[in-house]
Amino acid sequence: MENKTERKWWKEAVVYQIYPRSFKDSNGDGIGDLKGLTSKLDYVKSLGIDIVWLNPIYGSPNADNGYDISDYDDIMKEFGTMADFDVMLAEMHKRGLKLVMDLVVNHCSDEHEWFKLARSSRTNPYRDYFHWWPAEKGKPPFRPGNFEVDGSGWRFDSLTNSYYLHYFSYKQPDLNWENPKLRQEIYAMMNRWFKKGVDGFRMDVIPFIAKDTSFPVITQKDLDEKYEGRWDVYQASGPGLHNYLQEMNKEVLSKYDIMTLAEGAGTTKATAMNFVDPDRKELDMAYHFDGVSLGYVPGYFKKMDPNWSLTAFKKIYSDWDSVFANKGWGTIYLGNHDQPRMLTRWGNDAPEYREAASKMLTTFLLSMRGTPYYYFGDELGMTNIKFDKIEDYRDIETIAEYGKVKNAGGDLKGFIDNQKNGGARDNGRTPFQWDAGMNGGFSTGIPWLKVNDNKNDINAEAEEKNPNSVLSYFKKMVKLRKDQKDVLVYGKYTLLDKDNPDVYAYTREDGNKKVLVLLSFRKTGGSFNVGKMQLGEEWINNLQPLKVNGNTVTLQPYQACIVQLK
Ligand code: GLC
Ligand code: CA
Repeated sequence: MENKTERKWWKEAVVYQIYPRSFKDSNGDGIGDLKGLTSKLDYVKSLGIDIVWLNPIYGSPNADNGYDISDYDDIMKEFGTMADFDVMLAEMHKRGLKLVMDLVVNHCSDEHEWFKLARSSRTNPYRDYFHWWPAEKGKPPFRPGNFEVDGSGWRFDSLTNSYYLHYFSYKQPDLNWENPKLRQEIYAMMNRWFKKGVDGFRMDVIPFIAKDTSFPVITQKDLDEKYEGRWDVYQASGPGLHNYLQEMNKEVLSKYDIMTLAEGAGTTKATAMNFVDPDRKELDMAYHFDGVSLGYVPGYFKKMDPNWSLTAFKKIYSDWDSVFANKGWGTIYLGNHDQPRMLTRWGNDAPEYREAASKMLTTFLLSMRGTPYYYFGDELGMTNIKFDKIEDYRDIETIAEYGKVKNAGGDLKGFIDNQKNGGARDNGRTPFQWDAGMNGGFSTGIPWLKVNDNKNDINAEAEEKNPNSVLSYFKKMVKLRKDQKDVLVYGKYTLLDKDNPDVYAYTREDGNKKVLVLLSFRKTGGSFNVGKMQLGEEWINNLQPLKVNGNTVTLQPYQACIVQLK
């Protein structure tokens, strides 16, 4: 009945992702830092979670908030010092918490020493750490560059009359993984962090590290036929990729009891297993984008369709469950630093529904198979901030997309409106709401990104005191997952009533126990026919006990319940 793969601590863990810039500021400069984070570890521990994943904290000029690293062996000035890091890690371990760091090695910063040397001359020994296209060959074949207004992934560097490749902004030049010297530098750096005691890495856009470095012209027809029409799939399909990952496993990962997570950019259901099949000795888990990509209106930047289809949502998560049903291991998430707040996007952030909807989404995340990656602030029911003007945004992506609309003479007000409920990343990056005081208790200075006005109602201090709060429910649900891990972590998942447009229903079971999970995704509630199933004890319920009439269960708006079957 259960997944036949070996039991592992990282399969049973709940991961809590902290965006360090927005968690807690200790020195009043408006930027979250490691000392601030360390001061809040008792809160983190009280959640019942096991692993903290921190977004990048290395030396960085912050073009993309740390995803542009200028020194892999240092701590970003704004965040503190290596001594602060050592204290933080020790304090985490003292509390039984593990730390997973972000590993960003598809690219570094253009301010990294390697790149400064590489760009200085065509014969510099570091030249081959990056990808270059000499201008005498003409313009390089198109490659997309995220975060650039002109959309190009090549930038001309006049000093050596060449273009360099950057899949993200021009401040993030791509590293050349074909160069064994570069690979050895990366492995050595990873080993240094593991020797310090970190417990794993979340690997940023790792499928992108390998590319066809002859940079052929790719036609739209080939892109459509061979790569689902997706640039990210093409960009992630480079030769050598799995050799590099196996080499990394051998030289680094296999030496420690740690966990790894691939940000599965460009992976598909057909290719994901190649990263996490234990027999291949590469990585442990991968996360896909199919779920969070659902429901965006084509042709617009992350504009949300308010009528997104629950049946499509169910199909995506069910299909992905089946990928890892017998081998490998999956993950589940609805929010992170690249996504809007899950409550606004998948639930309902109106005051009358927000508590029930938050608890319902939490029930979903913590009752699915696969390791949950839970985003900080979602345990409070934090919402999109819904900025009215571009000046409030800090994110390089949103600013570039706005620039594209502007240059095309497009609808700028429409763009800003679309981001309110849609996908602008800053919606999920606003400071953590500790209390109802100034700046929500995040900082005594001017926060780098505005604090949401709803901090007076939605904050940790108030919710800790209230046994019925969103926060209290989250803790209860974490505990339930752990207490019932045979069923809720390892048990088999079966989707029921797949065409029900309002209710997501499934069972989880091991050899001994079977539970039914019922989730209403609508403000109109929903109903579900239990057929011959006999409902027993309710393990958790975010509202009143289920109403059953004959075979029909009627769910209230955003109701969630896990009920044991007899
Ligand atoms: C990943 C990160 C994102 C970053 C990008 C480039 O998708 O999650 O925040 O901007 O990679 O490093
Ligand atoms: Ca600070």
